Amino acid sequence: MASIQACLFDLDGVLVDTAKYHYLAWRRLAEELGFGFTEQDNERLKGVSRTASLEILLEIGGLQLDEETKQQLAERKNTWYVESISRMDESEILPGALDFLKACRSKGIKVALGSASKNAMLILNNTGLTPYFDAIIDGTKTSAAKPDPEVFVLGSEEVGVPPENCVVFEDAEAGIEAAIRAGMRSVGIGSPENLSRANLVVPSLQQMTIDRLGEL
Ligand code: BG6
Ligand code: MG
Repeated sequence: MASIQACLFDLDGVLVDTAKYHYLAWRRLAEELGFGFTEQDNERLKGVSRTASLEILLEIGGLQLDEETKQQLAERKNTWYVESISRMDESEILPGALDFLKACRSKGIKVALGSASKNAMLILNNTGLTPYFDAIIDGTKTSAAKPDPEVFVLGSEEVGVPPENCVVFEDAEAGIEAAIRAGMRSVGIGSPENLSRANLVVPSLQQMTIDRLGEL
């Protein structure tokens, strides 16, 4: 197996605990529109772009709306979400994430972000994570959403490491699929039921070490 020379990280649900803020903002929108939205429903939105998330939400509510209204609703949800993440600090970095990023850097392994979020820079800056990255690819730099591999392909190009030497860390099924399509290995963060296609699944980055990269 080719050695790992770059680690590519998803943001929401892997490095920071922002999934709850996405959920609360989508639920508030659903309630305004007159229907309920459960945590189980929210699983379908993880890793999915903002516009695709809204489509799923409207499908759950059985609503069909015109493009202009949909754009207004997506902006409304984002305003509430940004209010929440504007208050974030380093306490919302997920357990083990910072230590693992530091370990990667101390071993000369390149570190890249591969996120669908257009709010990634605000989150990275508020939590103090920005300096740990050699490359940051987010929703402002991509045109195709996961499971399309674009976000990870761009990350590997920017750090100058070929896909076979990259590993992706992801909490969403769509993200694992994107890694596979990019020709990269992957570590699922969460439970094996949802992430069965990953090469390795760990509950959090707390269980991840540089030595374990050798298991991939
Ligand atoms: C992903 C999240 O990282 O980013 C999704 O898992 C979210 O839930 C997507 O919809 C887009 O984020 P944003 O911040 O651009 O609305
Ligand atoms: Mg995620």
